[in-house]
Amino acid sequence: MTQSKSSRVHFKKYRANTIETFTRIKNVLNNIRLFPMLMLVGILMPIANAGEKGEVSKALVKPSQDRALTSSKSVETFNGTFDGQQEFEWRAKKLVKDFSTELKKQLQQAIKSGGFEQGIVTCEKQAPLIAKQFSINGWQIKRVSNKNRNVKNKADEQEQAILELFANMTGNEKPYHKTVERDDELIYYSSIHVQPLCLACHGDNLSEDVRESLMKAYPEDKATGYQLGDLRGMFVVEYLKSRP
Ligand code: HEC
Repeated sequence: MTQSKSSRVHFKKYRANTIETFTRIKNVLNNIRLFPMLMLVGILMPIANAGEKGEVSKALVKPSQDRALTSSKSVETFNGTFDGQQEFEWRAKKLVKDFSTELKKQLQQAIKSGGFEQGIVTCEKQAPLIAKQFSINGWQIKRVSNKNRNVKNKADEQEQAILELFANMTGNEKPYHKTVERDDELIYYSSIHVQPLCLACHGDNLSEDVRESLMKAYPEDKATGYQLGDLRGMFVVEYLKSRP
């Protein structure tokens, strides 16, 4: 009697252990099945995220292409065919980013070391130099405005029309951009808007010192009186298709 009871207990234990072992094996198998799923999610998530940030091309680009695009050399390998409009826009956008990052970096350094007057000198001397430095291999970048500070940055008639188009655009997706193909050129326009940093030299509440320095360097300055978010001007990236 006692023997059969203890063997029943043994059997119950044995059964419990077996069920536990099988459950563990099942869990392991489930996890293994999950693994490829996780791998897939790991690959797809960055692409999806990049898409949200509007950087799909960056996430999908081949590694070799990506490397080329991390430097200003990004503009060197474009062959100029317009069926690659997306590629042209991407490279132009990169050029705009490189130019504005470099100028802003130098401007901030100058303001830190010598105040806004030093910043003005930097804009005056460095902005054209940086533009020149990035204008290579058939590419040309410049900044223009309809209320220009430097007379050399005055928007021409066609550029005025694009500025007007940008001025009438609404929505949050700033900066606005537009691509145009004209004769032998591809042209990319990208709007520039006023940020807090800009107000000291482009706002309507300039310090006496800034006002004086500006008057001296730019007697015909029209580039003041702006509010935050206003359209200050635009970048113009031109690509000459028949470059030598
Ligand atoms: C320290 C003063 C200073 C600050 C700050 C400053 N700028 Fe300027 N900005 C200038 C000067 C000086 C020029 C003229 C440069 C030249 O001679 O090419 C200029 C020119 C420009 C131009 C070219 C068109 C024109 O009017 O000649 C644009 C566009 C522009 N600034 C946008 C900005 C934006 C956007 C910011 C803020 C992110 C900013 N600036 C901040 C001083 C400043």
